[in-house]
Amino acid sequence: MKKLEDLQQIISEAVDKLAFPHYPAALYEPISYILSLGGKRMRPALLLMACDLFGGDVDAAIPPALAIEVFHNFTLMHDDIMDNAPIRRGKTTVHERWNQNVGILSGDVMLIEGYKLMMQVPEHLLRPILDIFNNTAVGVCEGQQLDMEFETRGGVTNTEYINMIRLKTAVVLGGALKIGALIGGADLKDANLLSSFGEHLGIAFQLQDDILDVYGDPEKFGKQVGGDIISNKKTFLLIKALELADEQQLRELNYWIALKEFDHTEKVEAVTAIYNTLEIREYAEFAMQTYADKAFDALDAINLPDSHKQYLREFADGLLVREN
Ligand code: IPE
Ligand code: IPE
Ligand code: MG
Ligand code: MG
Ligand code: MG
Repeated sequence: MKKLEDLQQIISEAVDKLAFPHYPAALYEPISYILSLGGKRMRPALLLMACDLFGGDVDAAIPPALAIEVFHNFTLMHDDIMDNAPIRRGKTTVHERWNQNVGILSGDVMLIEGYKLMMQVPEHLLRPILDIFNNTAVGVCEGQQLDMEFETRGGVTNTEYINMIRLKTAVVLGGALKIGALIGGADLKDANLLSSFGEHLGIAFQLQDDILDVYGDPEKFGKQVGGDIISNKKTFLLIKALELADEQQLRELNYWIALKEFDHTEKVEAVTAIYNTLEIREYAEFAMQTYADKAFDALDAINLPDSHKQYLREFADGLLVREN
């Protein structure tokens, strides 16, 4: 088994080698720009690790690993437009640095570049893998649409929220692991169990992202802290707060939610203060742990030596104590 650092090294070298045309510059430069900002590269790492776990040739898994990372970065480029986000990985977002149309079209071509990379998988796996990739990509779009609808909808339940984050975030982790497992030679049963591990981990991961959005250290987070509060995202935190709030707190929360023009800092501080009083962070961390535990249960059921699974356990543990 290759160590995580080795896999990360492979990915970072492969990402650096990715070459895109130079003309038209405003179509391709944003791709190099967003990819150059780094990120944790966890989806390609999971894909390579899954392949390695089942004894596959990691080299054969590099193009699909890149495909997943390029796809992920495309979703970020469009997500930042939808979320009106000024910062990504500590730098100006593409639509702010160029403009919104550039962000849309450059993102579009990135999605296609992702598909081109994915097509380089071994011939006999092309159809099943494209099938997984398609379902993953559709899931993300469905999740993103729900995420936006929920901003302006009242009465969003936690069940709806979990389903939304499963679609927008978790299916990509599941898909990456499933693709890696198939390339590694896993049978469908184990590939599906690994995918289920990834989906539960992905839900825990997005819960953590939502916690960091409020409680992250602005120096380390790399995104605008409080962005979810500003745009009334129905995250676990807001849903729980609406559920637990007393009359006065509920009035205050609804006041901020309804307000069209406001000082960003003032809203973020006021809503965070209510979260703090209601100990919302603790509830969210508990929910996150619940999904991490479900992920580990799925992992336990896979037909692999425990020493192999340990790699995924350590990876998951590391992911859930991250600061960005
Ligand atoms: C950000 O993903 C989008 C979410 C699903 C929360 P990551 O946190 O993996 O972003 P990078 O690639 O490491 O920057
Ligand atoms: C991201 O959710 C999901 C996708 C990019 C598909 P967020 O909107 O919470 O991600 P960040 O926080 O901007 O990275
Ligand atoms: Mg966002
Ligand atoms: Mg978003
Ligand atoms: Mg977020």
